[in-house]
Amino acid sequence: MRRPRWPAAMLLLMASALCAGEAWRAPAEERARTSPVPPSEAALAKGHALYQRHCQSCHGGTGKGDGKAAGASPRPPGDLTDQRDTSEGEIFWKVSRGLKEGGEVVMPRFDGEITNADDRWKLVLYVRTLGSPKSP
Ligand code: HEC
Repeated sequence: MRRPRWPAAMLLLMASALCAGEAWRAPAEERARTSPVPPSEAALAKGHALYQRHCQSCHGGTGKGDGKAAGASPRPPGDLTDQRDTSEGEIFWKVSRGLKEGGEVVMPRFDGEITNADDRWKLVLYVRTLGSPKSP
């Protein structure tokens, strides 16, 4: 049986949206997702450790986007302290899939390195704390 071709079609659509200069956005159904992992102290501690290991080099210790490797990215890393226009599901989707543009990695994908989805949600819970209570 032939496998459905829609993933390739979707990637093409996404790529053309990016070429049109649109912001990097998760699909609505992904944005609407919320963490199945409650924000316990242990979950946040695990998320913090994952952040330090995988994200801090670009996004910086406080999420401002001023990590040591930030300059090596084709674009400046997003400011994770400004979360007015994002959601748990959006962050989860971005962290899981990363962003590639014209064959160049803008942000690496982490579903291969942080294979446990619950761990990625813990990371999301931690990233959420970078934006509060300063951002609305
Ligand atoms: C190699 C550098 C690099 C690493 C490592 C990295 N990122 Fe990013 N990240 C970026 C760049 C560059 C962008 C901006 C992409 C864009 O919107 O053009 C970004 C954007 C984001 C965004 C979207 C911000 C927004 O304003 O919409 C989130 C959320 C995010 N990163 C989370 C993470 C997390 C969590 C990790 C660790 C698992 C991580 N990133 C690791 C470079 C990196």
